Amino acid sequence: MDVSAMSNPTIEAVPSPAQVMAVRTRGRLLSQLPARLHHYASVVRDQEVNRRFFEDILGMPLVATWCETAFNPTLRREIAYCHTLYGLADGGTLAFFQFADEDMYQRCKSAPEPGRFHHAAFKVSQDTFHEIDRRLVDAKISRRHTDHGYVRSLYVLSPDDLKVEFTVDHPNAAEIDAARRGDAHAELARWLKGDHTPNNVNRH
Ligand SMILES: [Fe+2]
Repeated sequence: MDVSAMSNPTIEAVPSPAQVMAVRTRGRLLSQLPARLHHYASVVRDQEVNRRFFEDILGMPLVATWCETAFNPTLRREIAYCHTLYGLADGGTLAFFQFADEDMYQRCKSAPEPGRFHHAAFKVSQDTFHEIDRRLVDAKISRRHTDHGYVRSLYVLSPDDLKVEFTVDHPNAAEIDAARRGDAHAELARWLKGDHTPNNVNRH
């Protein structure tokens, strides 16, 4: 507290950006953030085709298969489905549903979108990045590389058109993270006001 401002009500202390941020976020954020991604789920036509891609080609292990039925309120009937989970190093999983009825796949598969912005991304080491790249080359599956500046990414489509991204952090990831956390609200406000000037000068 600025004592001079208290003694003279005509002078107001100017809060620092950190103080403004502390007031803005107080009581709004969780006291404990979610620990990690538990799973990210999508729909597949054929679990075995999907397993070959994720386990045999990419090398991510199948760690659980749940076979279940549930009443679907939209269809007003019981549906049977198989739910598979592929493991990440931190315990998180990538999850997939296959329905016994083919029409459920047609109803639930992801809609095509321009540029396929919807995707799941995973942080990997440089060695794993190269290994996955090599596995895809060997399997003759096309992939795309992008250097975003803050990460380098490899993109590949699964047999059901789920876009999967593997990223390697930039060597200065901690510095970049600190800078982005510092201006995240200001940059969001700027862009939403109509100033669409890019702030990623390192993207190639
Ligand atoms: Fe991404």
